[in-house]
Amino acid sequence: MGKQIGILTAGGDSPGLNAAMRGLGKAAIRTHDMSVIGFRDGFRGLMQNRFVRLDSLQLSGILTTGGTVLGTSRDKPHKMDVGGKVMDMTDLMIENITGHQLDALVCLGGGGTAKNAMRLAAKGIAVMTLPKTIDNDLWGTDTTLGFDTAMGIATEAIDRLHSTAHSHHRIVVVEVMGHNTGWIALGAGLAGGGDVILIPEIPYDIDKIAGSILERRATGSTFSIVVVSEGAMSDEEATIKARAQTIKRGDDPEAAAKARRTLSELAAARTNHTADLAADLESRTGLESRVTILGHVQRGGTPSPTDRLLATRLGTACADFIAEGVTNSMVAIRNNECVPVPLEEVAGKRKTVPLDHPWLLTARNLGVGLGER
Ligand code: F6P
Repeated sequence: MGKQIGILTAGGDSPGLNAAMRGLGKAAIRTHDMSVIGFRDGFRGLMQNRFVRLDSLQLSGILTTGGTVLGTSRDKPHKMDVGGKVMDMTDLMIENITGHQLDALVCLGGGGTAKNAMRLAAKGIAVMTLPKTIDNDLWGTDTTLGFDTAMGIATEAIDRLHSTAHSHHRIVVVEVMGHNTGWIALGAGLAGGGDVILIPEIPYDIDKIAGSILERRATGSTFSIVVVSEGAMSDEEATIKARAQTIKRGDDPEAAAKARRTLSELAAARTNHTADLAADLESRTGLESRVTILGHVQRGGTPSPTDRLLATRLGTACADFIAEGVTNSMVAIRNNECVPVPLEEVAGKRKTVPLDHPWLLTARNLGVGLGER
């Protein structure tokens, strides 16, 4: 009997998760004579030992389906809500892993999952991760599972929003996901012909945005499409956030508590951030504005061919690495090669859009408004 591996999907769902599990499972079973089980609902199912045996039959027909057939959760092993009490349940998870005599646990997830996998590795569990998030914000890999699909969905939405924008001579503000990075906004904004693209990496000046729109109007464009990353913020907000984050990490507990309050007040004040931005632009430009929040639509449905191919390559490569004895690594794609990257290099690091990224240079060349001072 070959090695026995466990799989779980954790964090937000993403297109490509099932394709990755299919690639991993089929290669493990067929090429390496391994046996595979899947734990339900992320680390919660691992804690409760809720699992399903995955054979080639179970893994067939899931290449094109969205979401995750195993279910997922945002649970963290060291902070599990057990009957209303937050407890560290890592040891019970380890007990279940050893109970199944697993040679490796593969966690499909994003940055948080890499950190959680590290915690299991620190206690002697052989873990591997696959880079899953539509945000594309995982350090150490050129791209992540789900990003291409999300960018495609957002691009199609922006294409469609042009109809109402030019018909009604409106400002259409469309908010896309991406958590605290602007990859989806920048990629879909460029692909969809956004006139203004706002990303968290470039805090914006509202006057500059209004100026871009009025300049377009002066040259005869009667509408503008403003693509806003959900994490984009004004100069003022960014200054407050950066200052509070520094104080929060400081030695003064009272100041740190105050900084935490400031950060939660800032987050609460952002509930209608995009609608407020649109209203502000309407009053500054005199152009009617409308808002579309794409939300979880960007994570839905069948993965793009690019994501299916990426997922299948990463999944099969993961099976190969496990067979070779590689552990405690994320299977990354770098220069079109699948390579193992040690988890300690990945955990806790976010890949933001570099300010000299080629996509940003392209946006500047096009005259896209970035809201920068
Ligand atoms: O991390 C993926 C992501 O879709 C982010 O872009 C978004 O901010 C977040 O998840 C939404 O989380 P949830 O699915 O828990 O609402």
